[in-house]
Amino acid sequence: MKTEWKGGTLLAPVPAVMVTVGDMENANIITIGWTGIVCSEPPKTYVSIRPERYSHGILLEKKEFVINLVPAAMAEACDYCGMVTGRKVNKWEKCGLTKEASATVAVPRIAECPMALECRVTDVLQLGSHDMFLADITRVALDESLLDEEGRLDMARAALCCYAHGTYYAVGEMLGKFGYSMAEKKNGKNAQYKVKGRK
Ligand SMILES: Cc1cc2nc3c(=O)[nH]c(=O)nc-3n(C[C@H](O)[C@H](O)[C@H](O)COP(=O)(O)O)c2cc1C
Repeated sequence: MKTEWKGGTLLAPVPAVMVTVGDMENANIITIGWTGIVCSEPPKTYVSIRPERYSHGILLEKKEFVINLVPAAMAEACDYCGMVTGRKVNKWEKCGLTKEASATVAVPRIAECPMALECRVTDVLQLGSHDMFLADITRVALDESLLDEEGRLDMARAALCCYAHGTYYAVGEMLGKFGYSMAEKKNGKNAQYKVKGRK
């Protein structure tokens, strides 16, 4: 039996990311849950931000941001950057974070985050509580330590965190790679894909 609630934002898990805005001299960090990939070719993403956030005004003016992916070890800093405003606090100093120059935008990346997506805004949509900043992903930066011997990205090494209904989680057990349902069921027509443990 399911119970039903009115329509709401209950999609889970979502990434909790630390988004940087501004430039090397004047940069701010805002924690964002409302983000995602919306197109592969060209690679496009978005962040949705309430107009009252300090970061919103900076983003409207500069039209560039960086999405810094957050390892579980940085979850506390991520939460903090979503609790206080850059109008009053220097979040870089408070969290002991380091600005690192980006390749394609003036906004700095957070050096301590293992992956970063540099983004340039193409459209701003006023949706209601939030404005959606739709953007091209102009560069992706990865720590070399995330690459295996063949130069492939090993996501497990990033040990990322995620967010579900107001709670942070560490990304956990690996279940399989893209297409594994087919690869393991080569024996054909009679393959079954039922929930594990159910007859
Ligand atoms: C996990 C988490 C996710 C958040 N997601 C968003 C979001 O998607 N959009 C938004 O406008 N604010 C979001 N916030 C709130 C802002 O991060 C928070 O108001 C922040 O203090 C704004 O900083 P600023 O005033 O320096 O820009 C989130 C906060 C947390 C902790």
